[in-house]
Amino acid sequence: MSGSKVKVVFTPSGLRGSFERGTPLLDAARSLGVDIDSVCGGRGLCGRCQILCTEGRFEKHQLVSDASHLSPFSETEERYCTRKKPLEKGRRLSCHTLLEGDVVIDVPPASQVHHQVVRKDAEHRDIELDPVVHLYYVEVDEATMLEPRGDMERLLAAMERDWQLAGLQMDSYLLPGLQTVLREGKWAVTVAVHRGDTIIALWPGFHEQALGLAVDIGSTTVAAHLCDLTSGEVLSTASAMNPQIRFGEDLMSRVSYVMLHPEGAAEMTVAIRQTINQLATQATAELELAPQDVLELTVVANPIMHHLFLGMSPLELGVAPFALALDSAFETRATALDLNLHHGARAYVLPCIAGHVGADTAGVILSEQPQLSDQMSLLVDVGTNAEIVLGNSQRLLACSSPTGPAFEGAQISCGQRAAVGAIERVQINAQTLEPRFKVIGCDLWSDHADFASRTKTSGITGICGSGIIDVVAQMFLVGIVSAEGVIDGGLAEKCSCIISGGRTWSYRLYKGDADIVITQNDLRQIQLAKAALYAGIKLLMDKMDITSVDRIRLAGAFGSHIDVKQAMVLGLIPDCDLEHVSSAGNAAGTGARIALLNLSSRQDIEALVTRIEKIETAVEDSFQAYFVAAMALPHSNDDFPKLFKQVSRPDSRATSTELAGGSRRRRRRSRGTC
Ligand code: FES
Repeated sequence: MSGSKVKVVFTPSGLRGSFERGTPLLDAARSLGVDIDSVCGGRGLCGRCQILCTEGRFEKHQLVSDASHLSPFSETEERYCTRKKPLEKGRRLSCHTLLEGDVVIDVPPASQVHHQVVRKDAEHRDIELDPVVHLYYVEVDEATMLEPRGDMERLLAAMERDWQLAGLQMDSYLLPGLQTVLREGKWAVTVAVHRGDTIIALWPGFHEQALGLAVDIGSTTVAAHLCDLTSGEVLSTASAMNPQIRFGEDLMSRVSYVMLHPEGAAEMTVAIRQTINQLATQATAELELAPQDVLELTVVANPIMHHLFLGMSPLELGVAPFALALDSAFETRATALDLNLHHGARAYVLPCIAGHVGADTAGVILSEQPQLSDQMSLLVDVGTNAEIVLGNSQRLLACSSPTGPAFEGAQISCGQRAAVGAIERVQINAQTLEPRFKVIGCDLWSDHADFASRTKTSGITGICGSGIIDVVAQMFLVGIVSAEGVIDGGLAEKCSCIISGGRTWSYRLYKGDADIVITQNDLRQIQLAKAALYAGIKLLMDKMDITSVDRIRLAGAFGSHIDVKQAMVLGLIPDCDLEHVSSAGNAAGTGARIALLNLSSRQDIEALVTRIEKIETAVEDSFQAYFVAAMALPHSNDDFPKLFKQVSRPDSRATSTELAGGSRRRRRRSRGTC
């Protein structure tokens, strides 16, 4: 039988071929172009080349079972199992398994260099792994009297010989330690190659850990996801408040701080870099590792956070024309940003789109990929500014709209950030007009018998963004608030929750040591915020020449927690089938993770941002008119037919105000029926 050919089929690729009996499986796979990983170059050290054997032989193109078709378990495999961990049943190291008969070989996802990293959300495509940093184990020719070449040249020659990587560059910081590393490893080293062209790290002997950190710098919080660059797995996550809050609660107040204190920008740069270092320490400590194990960092941030992180003044972003110092993607050594990661680690910052539409929005686009669909998608990331992206495979538009901090609880009398004790859900009884609510940290409604005891420790401390949306939408639906946003004091006789505040009225949600109320001024703040967002959306729809969108995705922490139906009742987002409105989760952070794990995604987003049409709301004449029309609940002119198929229109309920009647009249006028 020696010398006769055997057939092999690799799944899931379906690649197949015939090989001499005795051919190593890894060699057969490589020659067919099967995507199969290796760090150790077939030395039985890394375990990355594992395959699953499906026994068989072909007869009349059918696979039938056969007894022996692969070589017996080798000593190297035994050693691997003892030294590392036993191989799962049926698994073999393809580098030490020889073909002995016809066989079908399955390459499990973890053994594929370009495998899919599964995302839990059904709306999302999985991330294809395309590592930015790859590890290679290599045995370098020992220096001899007869071979006078330098150690670096011999290392580069070994990389070309064993891994076909010609013309590699090497970071100069590695040179002083190169000879020590080679000798310490007895001329065997592991090399980390960045973007396929530069050696950024060296370890004596075999090293198999390649870590990356994806960071999302928000103006309130900073989150870091530690990922395994070879598996794509998120190993741990750490987050912290953005320490720049002490310089200003929102973005513009931080810019103002820099205007008043020229040294403020540098202070904020130091603060955010220190926080990222702390998060890297925290995230790696969970795995008993160190930040110096991190080889790659990606960052998304809004333009002001982006500039401060990179050490650039945000002053120009505070005044028209909101000029960015840098809008393209930026890559540098992590040490240049004072980050205590591996000395050779690189930091990649995603591109900004415009003066108020930053790398965080680029991250959202990378995560959501609206450009791949013919459906018209609206992506909204609500923060102090709302970033809005509208488009499909044909065209993409983006703008930012100044919503202010009302949705984060600021400027609202009893508003607060989302934290334990904050009211996050509200329902109002249409008959009694009495509220019930839920607070963060307790899953019971406030009218449950155990609610008081369960919230005794946290207390009822205020109302956060999702609660504010709920309460205003509910007040509107039950007729407490008119379409103009005026609380109907005439209902005070009917319900004790409607209380006088002098010349205006308030709605009391909770009576305690400190009452939690929604005042007339709170309503005004919410109207201003939601009108700014809606006007920005309308402006983009106008530019796109459309009157409706196919789907709406709400990104960010706020978008994750709000009830989309209530948000639509409020007129925060345009009319759309509710089943096509959903949360995109932390899409900006996911974008940072995609850029970390997939090199080609960086080229994609860099090319895509140049195609995005940036709309500057501040200079658009129609913005003001859209803003005024959007002050009403849900809107002066737009009817929201899809929403009101599922929700009773408030004007079908009896209210005591003429204002509500006024709103009905105006809506009829706008429809041309009167
Ligand atoms: Fe490393 Fe097979 S290639 S164990």
